Amino acid sequence: MDRPETPDIAPLLTPILAHHGHDASKLLQILRDVQDACHIIPAGAIDLIAVHLGVPRVNVEGVAGFYSFLSTRPVGEYQVLFSGNITDQMLGQDDLMQYLCNKLWVESGKVSEDGLVSIAGTSCTGMCDQGPAALVNGWALTNLDRNRLDLIGELIRSRKPVAEWPPMLFETVDNIRRADVLLGEALAPGDAIRAVLARGARKTLAEMDNSNLRGRGGAGFKTASKWSFCHAAIVEEEGHVICDIGGHPERFIVCNADEGEPGTFKDRVLLNSYADLVFEGMTVGARVVGAGKGFLYLRGEYRYLLGQLEGVLKRRREAGLLGDNILGQADFNFDIEIHLGAGAYICGEESALIESLEGKRGRPRNRPPFPVTHGYQGRPTVVDNVETFACAAKIAAQGGAWFAALGTAQSTGTKLLSVSGDVSRPGIYEYPFGVTVRQVLADCGAEDPYAVQISGPSGTTISWKEFDRRIAFEDLPTAGAFMVFKRKRDVFDAVRNFTHFFAHESCGFCTPCRVGTALQQKIIDKIHSGHGTPSDLEELKRLGHLLKTMSHCGLGSSAANPVLDALAKFPDAFERKLAGLAFEPAFDLDGALETARKITGRDDEWAHL
Ligand SMILES: Cc1cc2nc3c(=O)[nH]c(=O)nc-3n(C[C@H](O)[C@H](O)[C@H](O)COP(=O)(O)O)c2cc1C
Ligand code: SF4
Repeated sequence: MDRPETPDIAPLLTPILAHHGHDASKLLQILRDVQDACHIIPAGAIDLIAVHLGVPRVNVEGVAGFYSFLSTRPVGEYQVLFSGNITDQMLGQDDLMQYLCNKLWVESGKVSEDGLVSIAGTSCTGMCDQGPAALVNGWALTNLDRNRLDLIGELIRSRKPVAEWPPMLFETVDNIRRADVLLGEALAPGDAIRAVLARGARKTLAEMDNSNLRGRGGAGFKTASKWSFCHAAIVEEEGHVICDIGGHPERFIVCNADEGEPGTFKDRVLLNSYADLVFEGMTVGARVVGAGKGFLYLRGEYRYLLGQLEGVLKRRREAGLLGDNILGQADFNFDIEIHLGAGAYICGEESALIESLEGKRGRPRNRPPFPVTHGYQGRPTVVDNVETFACAAKIAAQGGAWFAALGTAQSTGTKLLSVSGDVSRPGIYEYPFGVTVRQVLADCGAEDPYAVQISGPSGTTISWKEFDRRIAFEDLPTAGAFMVFKRKRDVFDAVRNFTHFFAHESCGFCTPCRVGTALQQKIIDKIHSGHGTPSDLEELKRLGHLLKTMSHCGLGSSAANPVLDALAKFPDAFERKLAGLAFEPAFDLDGALETARKITGRDDEWAHL
């Protein structure tokens, strides 16, 4: 691969490396800074970083190639990435992207000849309630329309620095439409920590247990069990035993704010307006498990939140709610660092997230061992979702019984739903668990609803026949996405969008997922182009089974969900696109050989084999 050299990279790199303490675990952050400064990771930078951090060059190159916001090929001085979720598409994203491309004389996916601009698509940016959305040099743009794109085109042409663009282009709103105990009842910073100190860590764990809080990131694992495993973790290494003591510098609390599941944006709102509650929950967790250090893994798309989150952390340190001797307690030391991701959905998977935190590619680890015993740097680590920590703070302050009285027996408390799609009031809705889909649809002004995607592409698609089902772990578990499709929509378009998403986001580590997601996409595209046959539907089912049973992690095992659900519940969406033929191969051998035939000048019968 030919990469442009940048001879003057050393003066630029020196302060970046110094800022990150020449720490190899900060490799991703270092590469992010290089990308910001150069609009590329130059080959020379890879060499120098490898030397200065003392890591093999291939590792640096591997990380640079893994994350979609890093690039070893030049991107424009202005890089515009349009959010490609189905809800953005429903709002006209494709036309808008083409409109901006035409305006700036650039082809989608390419860099303009003068290097000024590149325009492409990216996975969901978490702004489905205010789309169509995009990122410009990593900063979130919302509510795009032709007028805004006219202005953006002018700003780019006049080379106006993004920092000087009109603030209204970057405005985001919370869109909280329904608040319950989490969003509606304020908790003063420090109240939950004071309650823990008064009650003690053990009794707080008992309250967590009584609350029956289950993780809000999707899998629904009981939070108290996770915390108790981490607390009890004893790691033997080189004759040392790391055991049960408070504020241990080698036990970690990680808040998963990767929020990459298309259609999900509730963590964005929690971090924007309830950051104190989230950090409070992390601090409660730290006291209970005896952790000394915490990380917030913030998805790269939410970079605009970084400055204000750092501000909240600073305020909490000044108020004695973080740092050494928290609230005057001599053995209570805990602080939080924010780590910015760089565009990789797989980094939401907890073990991939930990790899990324360590400055590596986000490749899921083999499990067991689980992070609670062997997590960050091989040490006991709790990874919980943003909303889980917010709930934990509330439970610490108000008790387990209070929380357990809300929702259903198996799904206690409330759930935040990120509602988008064909609704008149998109946004965040907080309900006690057990609410019916029908109720949510009525509240959000759904327009002739036909299908709802619950929990994003990796979740469940339900049809209008199932609207009396309930949002609860025992019926429809969800990480929060609630995308509504009206009758006039073609469900197949959503399925196609999701298969592209999975093929793009597969980390490529294991063959069933790498090949399976690519083949799934190919077959769906073939059906879309009118060449599908009944045998393709059988092939999709076979592939789906393979993905579910043979994949290494949850991405692969859920990648067929939208296809299988749609085949079972909306067979018409597929059948009306099928060609009459009984069989047509997904791989066009003749077409694939065409270039070679042109090069060799052959057009004889044998060249067509
Ligand atoms: C592909 C994939 C992506 C995930 N993305 C997220 C995410 O963005 N946020 C999240 O909290 N959990 C995500 N998870 C689940 C995490 O692995 C983990 O279960 C969760 O962070 C645990 O927190 P909880 O117990 O509070 O739910 C993802 C899992 C998979 C397989
Ligand atoms: S299932 Fe997919 S995402 Fe998970 S490890 Fe395998 S290739 Fe990577």
